[in-house]
Amino acid sequence: MSSHAITKAVIPAAGLGTRFLPATKSQPKEMLPIVDKPAIQYVIEEAVRAGLTDILVVTGRGKRAIEDHFDRNFELEYYLEQQSKTDLLREVQLTSEMADIHYIRQRDPLGLGHAVSVAREHVGNEPFAVLLGDDIMVDDSKLLLSMIDIHARYGRSALALKKVPHESISSYGCVEPEPVHDGLVQVRSIVEKPKPEDAPSDLAVIGRYVFTPEIFDALDRIQPGAGGELQLTDAISLLLETQTVYGCVFESGRYDIGQKIDFLRANVELALDRPDLGPEVAEFLVQLVKDRGLI
Ligand code: G1P
Repeated sequence: MSSHAITKAVIPAAGLGTRFLPATKSQPKEMLPIVDKPAIQYVIEEAVRAGLTDILVVTGRGKRAIEDHFDRNFELEYYLEQQSKTDLLREVQLTSEMADIHYIRQRDPLGLGHAVSVAREHVGNEPFAVLLGDDIMVDDSKLLLSMIDIHARYGRSALALKKVPHESISSYGCVEPEPVHDGLVQVRSIVEKPKPEDAPSDLAVIGRYVFTPEIFDALDRIQPGAGGELQLTDAISLLLETQTVYGCVFESGRYDIGQKIDFLRANVELALDRPDLGPEVAEFLVQLVKDRGLI
């Protein structure tokens, strides 16, 4: 069993973002702002808060803006300094200092399983986390920390699981669970995007994973699965042949920003939570609801 402390996170960010066209025609979907911060920055901050400071972003074509965002921008820093905009200057500098961020290209978009497999050399023979950028967690990294904790305790992989409406299960990886204790299950089996009538449960895999390095051997063995893609879920299914995999069940704090409605909800709710914006946004929403006769 490996009890290696986890310091590495892999963030697949090679998707085309077709659901957000035309906004994503010439910019990565990971750079779409939630209030005033790009979505991927929330994900990296979540990882860093959980002690994962070595971040590998798996990118593809047209993703240069992500690298620029986490790099120094001397011209901008100089300008902000000249204008005495100290708070903004600090904010801009922090984005380039928050973690040790590496990039690798997934040359062909062959699926999530393939995207994770290109991280093999960087990760080496260590446990690591995978965070998907479409899921934004607003929970002070509680979920990720609990998964890291499960790995520390059992030396095994852990998946984030959430109960979803039965008819939605076909959008997710779905597990057959065996309860261990409150909030923790053992994964008996896993299947990618089942039809509701074939789903073993309503527990969906949400985009947070902690893996033992053996997942890479499993990734080497998978064949194209659901949607003709190399699926991470199928590699987890192979991993289950030799290792126990746990599931951490959580309820709140997640926005699926790959869905337009959740993207908008995240913007509104996170703006409401901000001391500098919240009161004004609340007032605006109340007025809007009244003016439009929405309730
Ligand atoms: C991916 C995974 C799926 C998981 C989901 C979580 O699907 O393949 O197992 O449940 O992320 O968001 P995608 O959303 O890329 O179709």
